[in-house]
Amino acid sequence: MKATAKAHTNIALIKYWGKRDEALILPTNNSLSVTLDGFYTTTTVSYKPELTKDTFTLNDEVVVGEQYNRVTNFLNKVRDIAGKQLYAEVKSINAVPTAAGFASSASGFAALAAAATKAIGLSLTESELSRLTRQGSGSACRSIFGGFAEWQKGEMEDGSDSFAVPVAPKDHWDIRVAAVVLNAKMKKVSSRSGMKRTVETSPFFKGWVESIPSDLEAIKQGILERDFHKVGEVAEANCLKMHATTLGANPPFTYWLDTTMSVMQTVQELRSTGVPAYFTIDAGPNVKVLYLPQDEEKVLETLRNISGVTDVRLSRVGQGIKYLEDEELV
Ligand code: ADP
Ligand code: DP6
Ligand code: CO
Repeated sequence: MKATAKAHTNIALIKYWGKRDEALILPTNNSLSVTLDGFYTTTTVSYKPELTKDTFTLNDEVVVGEQYNRVTNFLNKVRDIAGKQLYAEVKSINAVPTAAGFASSASGFAALAAAATKAIGLSLTESELSRLTRQGSGSACRSIFGGFAEWQKGEMEDGSDSFAVPVAPKDHWDIRVAAVVLNAKMKKVSSRSGMKRTVETSPFFKGWVESIPSDLEAIKQGILERDFHKVGEVAEANCLKMHATTLGANPPFTYWLDTTMSVMQTVQELRSTGVPAYFTIDAGPNVKVLYLPQDEEKVLETLRNISGVTDVRLSRVGQGIKYLEDEELV
């Protein structure tokens, strides 16, 4: 009745931004991401007959309120599927800043889903696990897989065909991602409330949704052909379109800081000197820079010299869900 799983975050190259069903977490558009080996969550779930409710610690601190509710609501779904009404002790460690735009909800819910289902005795296929994980946090359904993964929005009202599928495995392509840390504090507008406000009020949201199919087709082709320019160009443009929708919302908002803009401009300048580097940004101020292994030194040096940058953390393409045995835990 106990299991531990490790899951990595992912960075969306085609963003998930908007829900058509908030309860089931069904998106308005397909999205596509690359799993990152540098940021991850390790979660242990133990079901215990003596518990009268779930308990949740994150980084060794007891969690209450909204973050606790999201975990216990998710465990209710696991209990329903398994037909067992046992409460659990959940202990999670984030090797990623929490709620700061580094996709902690992706690694967090992927690790929780994997550990919670294994501990309760379910053996799900990867598709089934991805579909369940989606209901914890949408972006998390892509973190079941390593390499490049696409979340297919699905057509069904019950969400039965809404889960991620692999596009290319980890070893397909050695691209690198530098996470440029400007501010690792909790964001003011969560991804969930930011996209809700955008769907409900931004006149730009329609244009966003309409632009997805061609971006998706181009990026998938680029990934399969290992065409870095194509992938970078599409990813950067898709990110800018997503962030543009927030400026049209009511009340308007942006996740960017002045330093976010500095990093974006520096990446574009670097590109004009012949170094292929492209940026993308999730729901937060921090920038992820895509580059190729041979340019690592140049890219790192350039990013570290930007004023306001507190850290630059490097990732390679990461692996999917991994179950850990007790002796592997440190
Ligand atoms: P992020 O950019 O970090 O994904 P979100 O606003 O999407 O930010 O999600 C952050 C929320 O994800 C947290 O407030 C918490 O509810 C949840 N979360 C983060 N890490 C974990 C974890 N390890 N286990 C369970 N839930 C987590
Ligand atoms: C901008 O998956 O964090 O990072 O489904 O409400 O938990 P919920 O939101 P979340 O949203 C991620 C938004 C994004 C883009 C992406 O990861 O695709
Ligand atoms: Co998130």
